[in-house]
Order: sequence, then structure tokens, then C-alpha cells
Amino acid sequence: MKYKKIILIIFTLSVLGTIFAVYKYFEYQNSIPYQLQKLGYQKEEREIIQKKVKNFKKILNMKYNENLSKIIQEKYFIEKNLDAYISYQKENNTKDYTYIVSVINTKANIEAYEKAEKADISKNDQILVNKHFYLTEDYVPSSIIDIPLKYAYENNQIRKDIYEIYKAMCDDAQSENIKLVATSGYRSYIDQKKIYDKYVKTYGEKYADSYAAKPGFSEHQTGLALDIIGFGTNRDTFEDSPAFTWLQNHAHEYGFILRFPKEKEDITGYAYEPWHYRYVGREIAKKIRNEKITYDEYFAFYLK
Ligand code: DAL
Ligand code: ZN
Repeated sequence: MKYKKIILIIFTLSVLGTIFAVYKYFEYQNSIPYQLQKLGYQKEEREIIQKKVKNFKKILNMKYNENLSKIIQEKYFIEKNLDAYISYQKENNTKDYTYIVSVINTKANIEAYEKAEKADISKNDQILVNKHFYLTEDYVPSSIIDIPLKYAYENNQIRKDIYEIYKAMCDDAQSENIKLVATSGYRSYIDQKKIYDKYVKTYGEKYADSYAAKPGFSEHQTGLALDIIGFGTNRDTFEDSPAFTWLQNHAHEYGFILRFPKEKEDITGYAYEPWHYRYVGREIAKKIRNEKITYDEYFAFYLK
């Protein structure tokens, strides 16, 4: 009797154990790590994928891709862009992953001015205006004031709420014997059209497109952008002047960024412009400077 009981218990336990083991086996087979492994992803790759991806469906329906975890590992990886990264990488396999992620995030793979969308003006001083996001012809910032001649050449304007900040920057520079001067500030749609057309006429379309925005596509229309040089310098000499060095070291403390930096031409769509500064606010300006990214990249990753 006693033995029968023991045998029954052992039997029940082994049946339960088997059911549990079979259940666990099927559970494992359906698990993400197992399915990733079956596709060929190594442990390290699986860890990267699992850490940063929320929806695995797409990846599990794709063939193994040796670039996938490297793309996902990128700091500015955005999950919804995954397909675009993969196809762009395929066609541009000599480019590094940072570049690929940056190009796709900022739409720099799309021809300038094609498929452009309206800029989100609700973003106020964080608005993004570039070759893919435009302002309508009637867009005028709410309050624009003239910049006094102490801080700018004649007929230059800036958004009223930014003026005091710009003034403080100029005064602080002046106390170190640096005289900053704005050569261009707010421009209406029509002003920008005149500038762009003049560039095309004088230098040809290719040059014009690397230094001047088409009307509606210039952030000068926001009243938040200023072309700044050192008094007594010009666009060609400014970069080698103490005024430029001062701005390099201090502009971010006032919320201004160098908007079209060197070696980011593919992302911004413009040639390096040491004179073009854009107000974005102190926190963002500092982050952009520390992370060595452009506003286009910052906006795509942090604000969109
Ligand atoms: N120079 C800059 C790109 C503009 O025209 O807005
Ligand atoms: Zn400018």
C-alpha cells in the first residue's frame, strides 16, 4: 500500500515534470533570443538588439543582417527608421554607421526641397527650418525689433525676446575687447528670395544652393538667426579672428549655436558658414556643442 502511494507520487511528479519541461521548451522556442539565434544573431548582437528595440516583429521577419546590431547600437538610432537605415546602408556600404543614422534621421538622403514639410511653428524658438522643413510666405515672427547700430550693421532685425540675450553676448565680448557685429538678421520671405536670386545670378545655382536658402527655407525668416562677424573682419577673414574664437568658446553660454559647421555639409545641406548663428536656448546649445551634432540631428532625435 505504502509503496503504491510512493510510486503514484513519483509517477505524478514525473508527469508534471515532463509537462513543465515540454512547456519550457516551447516557451524557449518562441522566445525572442531563440528566434534571433535561429536567424544567426550572435549573443552580443542579440543583447544589443534586445536592449534597444521594442518591436521585434520586423527583425524576426528579416534575414540575418550583419549590419543590424551596429546600426541599432548607434547613439541616435530611432527605431521607426530601421528599414530606411538598412536600405540606405546597402546602397552606401562604405559610409560609417554614425553617418548613415544621421543622414536618415535628418532626411538628408532626400533631395533638398523635395517632399518638404511645413515647419512646426509651435516649437517656437526650437523651430527647425532647413531644406526639408519650410515656412510659408506669410510667416512673420510675432515681434521683431531693430538691432541698434552698436551691435549690427544698418537695417538688421531680430526677434524681440532674443535681443537682450544677443546684446548681453555682445557686451560680454566687448568687455574682452571683442566687437561682434551682426551683418544679417531677420529676413522676410521676399528678402530671402532677393538674396537667393542674386546668388544664383552672380554665382550660379550650385554655389547659391550651398550658401543661400530658397525663400521659405531660411531660418533667417524665424528671426532667430544672425550672421555675426568681428568688427573689421569680413566673411573671408572672420574665421581667423579672435571674434570667431570667442564665439566658439562662448556662443553656447548664451544659447547660440554655429548652425552650419565644418564636415556636416551633407547633413545641413550647406557649406561651412563660420558666421551663421542660431538661437536655440542655453540647454540645447550646450548639448549640441558637447555632442558635436547639428541642430538638424538634435531636433530629429530629441524633439521630433
Ligand atoms: N545662409 C543661410 C543658409 C540662409 O540663407 O539661410
Ligand atoms: Zn545666415
